Amino acid sequence: MCGIIGIIGKDAVAEKLLAALRRLEYRGYDSAGIATLVDGGIERRRAEGKLDNLEKRLAREPIAGRTGIGHTRWATHGVPNEKNAHPHATDRVAVVHNGIIENFQDLSEELVAAGRRLASDTDTEVVAHLITRYLEEGDEPARATKRALARLEGAFALGIVFAGRDDLMIAARRGSPLAIGIGAGEMYLGSDALALAPLTNKILYLEDGDWAVMTSKGVTVYDAEGREIRRKVRKTAVSGAAVGKGGYRHFMLKEIYEQPQVIGDTLHSFVNPATRAVTLPEFPFDPAKATRITLIACGTSFYACLVAKYWLERLARVPVEVDIASEFRYRGADMPEGGLAVFISQSGETADTLAALRYANKQRQHTLSIVNVPESTIARESEAVLPTNAGPEVGVASTKAFTTQLTVLACLTLAIGRARGAITPDAEARLVGALTEVPARAAEVLNHDERLREIAEEVAKARDVLYLGRGTSYAIAMEGALKLKEISYIHAEGYAAGEMKHGPIALIDEGVPVIVIAPSDELFAKTASNIAEVMARGGRVIFLSDAKGVQRLGWQAAATVQLPEVDPFVAPILYAIPVQLLAYHTAVIKGTDVDRPRNLAKSVTVE
Ligand code: G6P
Repeated sequence: MCGIIGIIGKDAVAEKLLAALRRLEYRGYDSAGIATLVDGGIERRRAEGKLDNLEKRLAREPIAGRTGIGHTRWATHGVPNEKNAHPHATDRVAVVHNGIIENFQDLSEELVAAGRRLASDTDTEVVAHLITRYLEEGDEPARATKRALARLEGAFALGIVFAGRDDLMIAARRGSPLAIGIGAGEMYLGSDALALAPLTNKILYLEDGDWAVMTSKGVTVYDAEGREIRRKVRKTAVSGAAVGKGGYRHFMLKEIYEQPQVIGDTLHSFVNPATRAVTLPEFPFDPAKATRITLIACGTSFYACLVAKYWLERLARVPVEVDIASEFRYRGADMPEGGLAVFISQSGETADTLAALRYANKQRQHTLSIVNVPESTIARESEAVLPTNAGPEVGVASTKAFTTQLTVLACLTLAIGRARGAITPDAEARLVGALTEVPARAAEVLNHDERLREIAEEVAKARDVLYLGRGTSYAIAMEGALKLKEISYIHAEGYAAGEMKHGPIALIDEGVPVIVIAPSDELFAKTASNIAEVMARGGRVIFLSDAKGVQRLGWQAAATVQLPEVDPFVAPILYAIPVQLLAYHTAVIKGTDVDRPRNLAKSVTVE
């Protein structure tokens, strides 16, 4: 996590660094800082907490310099205070870092024994001191950095500047993502294309093990073996302009409301409304021939996998495994030849998902990624990519990325099912028809916003909340619980409704709202029995269903939200929206920082 930025500019750079950090703040907000090169020395401003604190500090104590680096932190080693905020510096070198230097204890002991004084509790500071030591031994910056890099274990993206060398910056990447941007007489580095978006659209991505020497005139990249290497310069389509709240109080709310539009944009890439057929881009392999599909992701993206498991097994008749990336990567599972591994990630940078992808590549699986950032590392290292066209998602709690992931997975299911003969052309036409209606139905769901806000008043008083569902609604129950705990800090659990009597039913009393996700599908009657069991024990049911469901059961619930009646196939996409809104309003009522909830970060690039 952590976001880093670097600029070799033509004029004062502090404000540009700050603006770039705003676009990176989703990666962490425990502290922030910048360092610039001024009069042969290094100037730093750092502040604990969110970027606003650094901004205030800079207003009080401005900082000159045309070359500088900046950082927004998600703390790993060392508490989030000013002393541990990046950049870390000596009198000759300043460093920003995203990742973890695993051997920092050994290195700091060595440095302290050699008489150096470390000022922070971080793993990063050793990098500045190591490079300084080699500079003091007479090395030029590039050689000193190369020697230091050779000593580091772990994962990192680094930006390094050197006192008195205003036209020089060194970048290095092992594990954590890093992009270099090329401007007119200016050069940039950043954790992602979004950070660089308003500065340039010409970007090259460092590959694992690369390091690069940047000046205002250009960049020389070296690979892990030290050979000079060319990395492709790409034109990125990421627009800095797209990243604003657009009149909404929070990014999360804006992103929830964008769903009808972005689901439509995503469908547009894969669905022909005239023929009611799905067309996927050409893959270098045939996904329908996979003997088994393994779906892997983290967080909300994992729940998209879970929905897809039901779809792919049921409709496409293909065996499916789902796994959390951080568990999968260390299990050492054999993956039989002929398998397809699918990786789902909004950012395309999640460290565990990336490691799982590399494992699957080694296991000779075909690999497909479903990502929202097409230039991301996961996209680049997969054999095939299906993009979600959600646009930049800034709110830490994922919303539109989730529903567009589901949209892509629904299309993938139909394409595979049809090719395997499990879905007839008629069935495909019917299911595509249901999919193409989703944007309009999603807009209808948004009309229930006010009702969900009222219900949130009650949820906000609870200490624990239970979410129940069956089939694909079970996955949405878990996603709903995750959303609530992420942003409102209320303990919530998502459970398979049929499993409730094996444990969670013991929790039920009038203080525990039970949110039931129950579109009227073939499992409705079973869920209805579970609702009766909850109510018989005094539980207060918040019932999310459609007209049929409400007619059958709504009168018994403490609160009801009547959603549009849709084909059960697309219900999980639509039922994701009310659970997002419920979590959102609950968090607003509780007064938490909705877009930047405590301890979380949007892009988790450390294990
Ligand atoms: C973090 C975010 C979640 C996201 C998860 C996976 O935990 O806060 O919103 O679902 O990472 O991220 P990815 O980018 O791989 O989808």
